[in-house]
Amino acid sequence: MEHATVVVSGTKIAQEISSSRSEVWRLIQQLRGLGVDVAGHPATGYQLLSVPDLLLPEVLRSLLRGTIFDAHLKHFYKIGSTNSAAMAAAADGAPEGTVFLAEEQTAGRGRGANSWQSPRSTGIYCSAILRPALPPSDVLVLSLAAGLAVQAAIQQVDSRVHADLKWPNDLLIDGKKVCGILTEMNAEATRVRYLVVGIGINVNQGSFPKDLPATSLSLVTGSEWSRVDLTSALLKSLDREYRTLMEDSDERHSILRRFAENSSWVHGKDVRIEENGSAFEGTTEGLDQRGFLQVRTSKGTQTVLSGTVRER
Ligand code: BTN
Repeated sequence: MEHATVVVSGTKIAQEISSSRSEVWRLIQQLRGLGVDVAGHPATGYQLLSVPDLLLPEVLRSLLRGTIFDAHLKHFYKIGSTNSAAMAAAADGAPEGTVFLAEEQTAGRGRGANSWQSPRSTGIYCSAILRPALPPSDVLVLSLAAGLAVQAAIQQVDSRVHADLKWPNDLLIDGKKVCGILTEMNAEATRVRYLVVGIGINVNQGSFPKDLPATSLSLVTGSEWSRVDLTSALLKSLDREYRTLMEDSDERHSILRRFAENSSWVHGKDVRIEENGSAFEGTTEGLDQRGFLQVRTSKGTQTVLSGTVRER
């Protein structure tokens, strides 16, 4: 990975993988078929023209040094759902900081019964295992902090892009969804055993089905984004939010304040809330101490616990 674009002879590669030069040629052709830019042929040697933008642990590990995420990065070319895999691994004892990254998900899951479109190598599909010493009632704040982490990471990679935070866990640009977060946990009544923060970001998708109000970062900016750079910024930013929350008991107030400051949905938005098969309308009025959205309605202020929030 350190000298990824030097010319290497077919003979040397063949020796390294204990194979023949003709087998190397066959494998190179296969890589080209997958879209990897390799120049050369058996007589001249081969050269990788650009390092593919794959979320490989070998690439990310050094970028994440010093965070809780640098030691247990798991990468999959294809997986059902990184959240499902991370929940299963956490149940089997995987340590805090384990991260599941996939190039493609075949059964990506969203909140409620929704699915998450996860085409190959265009989005970021990432799930991190955390084992916070928190009661389950504090997990919403942590999940709001994950939204702040994504927002900061996007802005760090391109300072022109400001995504709006939609309570509890969406990021929107021009009113279209660019990121969704699915936080799942296993808990006792008073103690979280483990939780998985699953983050899906639309990065380089060129289009979306007409009926899906979604966009991607490349559609917004008109240029391709490096998924490696964004994943590294994201995990560093999540590490910062998480550590601060664990170390400083006042941090929950800062998270609630920053979320409200960086979201157009928390104060004064006319909304319709759909919750458990019923719906009500009102105007948003801030977050309560635990992070739940407050909505002023004709019958007084109501707290949204798990509903879907739409603009009226
Ligand atoms: C939502 O907006 O409904 C949440 C979407 C969360 C999608 C991510 S992609 C990585 C992780 N694995 C999943 O199956 N879901 C989350």
